[in-house]
Amino acid sequence: MKLMKRKKSNKSPVLSAKKKRELIHSYKVNPIEFYISEETAIYGKKKLFTRYYDNPEHSVRLLKGDCVEILNQARENSVDMIFADPPYCLSNGGITCHAGKMVSVNKGKWDKSKGIEENHKFTLEWLKACQRVLKPNGTIWVSGTTHIIYLVGFAMQELGYKILNDIIWYKRNAPPNLSCRYFTHSTEIVLWAAKNEKSKHYFDYKLMKKMNNGKQMRNVWEISAPPAEEKKFGKHPTQKPVELLKRIIQASTKEGDLVLDPFCGSSTTGVAAVLLNRKYVGIELEEEYLQLSKKRLEEAIENKVTNLPD
Ligand SMILES: C[S@@+](CC[C@H](N)C(=O)[O-])C[C@H]1O[C@@H](n2cnc3c(N)ncnc32)[C@H](O)[C@@H]1O
Repeated sequence: MKLMKRKKSNKSPVLSAKKKRELIHSYKVNPIEFYISEETAIYGKKKLFTRYYDNPEHSVRLLKGDCVEILNQARENSVDMIFADPPYCLSNGGITCHAGKMVSVNKGKWDKSKGIEENHKFTLEWLKACQRVLKPNGTIWVSGTTHIIYLVGFAMQELGYKILNDIIWYKRNAPPNLSCRYFTHSTEIVLWAAKNEKSKHYFDYKLMKKMNNGKQMRNVWEISAPPAEEKKFGKHPTQKPVELLKRIIQASTKEGDLVLDPFCGSSTTGVAAVLLNRKYVGIELEEEYLQLSKKRLEEAIENKVTNLPD
């Protein structure tokens, strides 16, 4: 490997911008080990997915297609950590408050409930596909509201995942409840689970404690909804804040690890992964969100390169 062969010198080398880029992630040294058996041509069949964006230099890849189909063709035991923000199945004609106005909840066709049985079947399918690609000591995080999170927890137990924590993500700036018949919804749950009971999961306990002013970090995280700055290229209707994903990635992965997001939307997970020197594979069905993902990822890569110390 290039880096190890360099002669010892007392002086710290002055690196050109090009060299800096090469050193962050070199494809030869640090490839994404998420090969898909069907990457070669499939004669007579429709290709199930496309590589929408690939940046080997920075170990970032976006795949367009259905996550269950893609994951079922990908290499087993190849991913260190998965963050999944699946459809919450809550776009069913209810109302909510957006920018101070009453609007109907409509995040998109993909967010409609198909009924509890079908929702459960789909949840089992994608969680099973994720479990197969996770490394033996890998972990998965799944976010959700009451509409879906209990199904996720049940399915995880059916599949033999080991649930490690339920994080309560508290949004101080949550919109008010307009009907005044319920408490204001201001939390989401993020379940953290290991691949199975035998897994020896990674947890950066020390860093979490340091980030919490020297006290053990608890499972209630106060993080605001994404600021306007994170929506400057356009917004995804269920976009997560980069701060939430940074904490998740820092808690459960090391530099150079591979992070996968099977429902990547605008790639908040990818932005956080790039900024923290982790590899990233995002999967998404919708062209609109892939375009948004690409813009956000390119900016994150540029910011990281610009901010490298000389
Ligand atoms: C809750 S959103 C994720 C938002 C994302 N966390 C963000 O910060 O932008 C779920 C996404 O999954 C996508 N999706 C739904 N079903 C899918 C499937 N079967 N395979 C891949 N993507 C899917 C939707 O288009 C939607 O963008």
